[in-house]
Amino acid sequence: MDGLFICKDKKYIDQVIGTSTLSLLAKKDNFEVMLYEIKADRPNSITPGDFPDLMEFYYIAEGAIEIEDGSTLVKLEKGDYFYVSNIKETVPVKTIEDTKMLYISSQPVYNLLYTYSGELRSLLDKSEQKDLYTHNHSNRVQVLSVKIVHKLGLSSEMNYNIALASLFHDIGKFFIPDEILNKPTRLSDEEFNYIKMHSTYSSELLKGKFIDDIAHIVEEHHERLDGSGYPKGLKGNQIRIEARIIGVADSYDAMTTDRAYRSAMTPKEAIEELKSLAGKTYDKDVVFALEKVLIDEGAL
Ligand SMILES: [Fe+2]
Ligand SMILES: [Fe+2]
Repeated sequence: MDGLFICKDKKYIDQVIGTSTLSLLAKKDNFEVMLYEIKADRPNSITPGDFPDLMEFYYIAEGAIEIEDGSTLVKLEKGDYFYVSNIKETVPVKTIEDTKMLYISSQPVYNLLYTYSGELRSLLDKSEQKDLYTHNHSNRVQVLSVKIVHKLGLSSEMNYNIALASLFHDIGKFFIPDEILNKPTRLSDEEFNYIKMHSTYSSELLKGKFIDDIAHIVEEHHERLDGSGYPKGLKGNQIRIEARIIGVADSYDAMTTDRAYRSAMTPKEAIEELKSLAGKTYDKDVVFALEKVLIDEGAL
């Protein structure tokens, strides 16, 4: 992708996010240039990013917005711009007129934003509604997985893949009958075999939507180091590091959430259990990274 690229009267690749439209104009490596069109009177916000050192730049090409800077409300018009980097709090933004902004991001966010509005997102919401005990599970697993990636100091590309894969890891539960998902008593072998199908279903759903890696990571999120996992019984390094990370975050979230057949463990109990299995079923480095994340957050 070297050379000169001229785009005149180009039909943008775009997507609708709620009432706004985001178009990807250009992309190189992690860097993305987008056009963001928002109708008047729409509250919006810039949220702290999932990526370390993410820089987001917005140039007002048309229209006007109001942005909150602490307790001050600042009006920005055509020709004005703002940018954010490593923000800790959400920054509220409101459009005053129909607005077009040039949006430049130092990390790939376009596909990630797509996942918050598209077909997959609505299927994810439906699958979470089916399972009475896992409300918001996918979001929590995503947040935790990304924090583990930071703690392990892994690459931003890996971070991006993890953010997508962890969000959709259980989407295939949509195809598992409700009475099995919500059964308050022990599952029979046959019923458990049904549940086990969900990682394969999730992976099938994601194939072709993102790069293949995402589907592979999702398929492996229940594989365990000693080969006791499913669907393939992969062992050790046969399991992608991304899947090993999601596996730990997923198990931790399951342990610390109430289920039909047992009440939630405390963070301390859950991490002790994960540590007792570290190196056997769970990746040791990942479990210790999770422990550090929890200590940082004051959960332990
Ligand atoms: Fe799962
Ligand atoms: Fe899960």
